[in-house]
Parts: sequence; C-alpha cells; structure tokens
Amino acid sequence: MISIPTHSLNDGTTLPALGLGTWPMDDAQAEQAVRGALELGYRLVDTATNYRNETGVGRGVAGSGVPREEIVVTTKLPGRHHGYEETLASFEESRARLGLDYVDLYLIHWPLPRVDKYVDSWKAMIKLREDGLVRSIGVSNFTAEHLERLEKETGILPCVNQIELHPFFPQEELRAFHTGKGILTESWSPLAPGTSLLEDPVVTGIADALGATPGQVVLRWHVQLGAVPIPKSADPRRQRANLEVFGFELDTAQMTAIADRAQRRRGGDPEVHEEF
Ligand SMILES: NC(=O)c1ccc[n+]([C@@H]2O[C@H](COP(=O)([O-])OP(=O)(O)OC[C@H]3O[C@@H](n4cnc5c(N)ncnc54)[C@H](OP(=O)(O)O)[C@@H]3O)[C@@H](O)[C@H]2O)c1
Repeated sequence: MISIPTHSLNDGTTLPALGLGTWPMDDAQAEQAVRGALELGYRLVDTATNYRNETGVGRGVAGSGVPREEIVVTTKLPGRHHGYEETLASFEESRARLGLDYVDLYLIHWPLPRVDKYVDSWKAMIKLREDGLVRSIGVSNFTAEHLERLEKETGILPCVNQIELHPFFPQEELRAFHTGKGILTESWSPLAPGTSLLEDPVVTGIADALGATPGQVVLRWHVQLGAVPIPKSADPRRQRANLEVFGFELDTAQMTAIADRAQRRRGGDPEVHEEF
C-alpha cells in the first residue's frame, strides 16, 4: 500500500498531500471508488452536498475496513443553505447522509458575494468545530478579499481554501496570499479535464524523460507547489497511478516549464459564480 505524506494545518490537524475527488460520481460509483481508493492507500476523500453522493461516500468509508481515524472526509455547504441556522441544519443532513459521528473537513463551497451570508455560515462552522462535530473548517473558491473579511469579522481563518488550480490556471497571487496567512491550498480540477493539458508537448516530454505518465507529472507539479490535488478517478488503475507521485521529483526548470502556460480558468469566477 502506498503511504502519503501529510501537511500540518493551522488548527493543529493534518491533511494528506493528495486526495480523491468524487464529482460527478453517483452514490453507487462513489461507494465503489472510495472503498477501492482507501484500500490503495488514499486517506483524503472530497465530496459535497451538491454532488449528491455523500451516502455513497459514507458507505465506501464504512466498507473499506480502514480505521475511521485514519480517513479525512471532506464535504461542503451548498449555496442554498448559507446563513447561521441554515448551515447548522445543512451540516446535520450531510453528517446523516455520510453516516459519520464527525466530519473531518467542512468547507463553504462558494462564497456567493451577492447573497452576502458567508460570514454567518462561517460563524456556524466555528460553532460546529467547537462542538466537536467537525475537526477542521475551511472554504472553497474564496478570494483574498473574502478570506480577509472572515479574519476581520471572526478572528478565525480557514485552514484550507480549495480552488481551481492547474498549470493552465496557476493562481500565483492567491497561493502566495494563502502562504502568508497559513492557509493550505487544495487544487480542484488538478488535471484540467476537458483541456489539452495531458497531451501538451511540454507535459508529455517531461513524462517521457522521467518514465512517468502525463497525469503523474501534473499531480507532482501540484505536490511540489505545496498544494493538495484531489484528482477524481473511478478507474482503479488511474487511481493507483495518481497516487504514485511521491517517488520522483521535477527540477526547477521542469516546474517552471509546466506552469508557463496561457491563463485559462475552466470553472466559475468566485466574484459572480452562483451555485445553490
Ligand atoms: N470546490 C469546487 O468548486 C470544485 C469544483 C470542481 C471539482 N471539485 C472537486 O475536485 C475534484 C477533481 O476535479 P475534477 O473532477 O473537475 O478534475 P480532475 O480530477 O482534474 O479530472 C478528472 C477527470 O480526469 C480523468 N482522469 C483522472 N486521472 C487521470 C489520469 N491520470 N490520466 C488521465 N485522465 C485522468 C478522470 O476520468 P476517470 O474517472 O475515468 O479516471 C476524469 O474524467 C472533483 O472530483 C471534486 O471532488 C471541486
């Protein structure tokens, strides 16, 4: 079984350096993929209320035989449940679907600045952590401005910001801001699916030179940036390959060449994206 290094978070907990994404799996696919991934050595799993597969993820965790305390289960608050009481209620629904006593990492999925309730949700998440129902609290798709507002209004910064990050959208500024504040970056869409990234000659050239696959080269790039990629794969062979990125290194020139790409966001702009 492959063993994965961990990062220390700003709340004293730890997070595996790579995890499994589960969107867009349904419950049955998620159950199988999560169980198989945990058996391979994955210890971080990413879901969300809006993926509608928390039940399957919970079954995969329960059926894996891996001790609960070794697994970091992440889920996320949907936009329609922003607000203090709404967040507490939404969390209980997630926890029930997951079938867990506690959730390891709970994130606000999108900031929804127009709705302007993310600070209220954040206060509820602080309460959930105080009550021991959540180990760590974080956010997703927050800008530096949103993060600063949380700090100013509650004194508590997220331990994680899960953002779109890949070589076509390397987010240097936001990553530097995270580093300055002690926030760990998680990368969603780390392989930039739907783009030409994995056929890019720079990436395939480095892969050939290192005897790795293009996917491994890109995931290794994330790991060396200090970001935690959460590649989704339902295929056991790709799940295994995606985990085998801790036994080789990219040099500085290779790291620079991979990131030296046109900037292209795939997903929504957090300032305006609305997802409920
Ligand atoms: N916070 C947010 O707003 C947000 C937004 C989007 C995603 N996410 C999370 O981030 C996770 C990952 O993002 P994503 O699913 O968009 O993108 P991704 O993980 O970068 O790419 C997934 C796609 O790549 C394929 N794939 C996986 N490993 C591969 C490899 N080694 N070589 C070639 N193809 C490979 C997968 O197919 P197979 O399954 O067939 O292997 C799948 O089609 C999601 O599952 C979700 O948990 C969060």
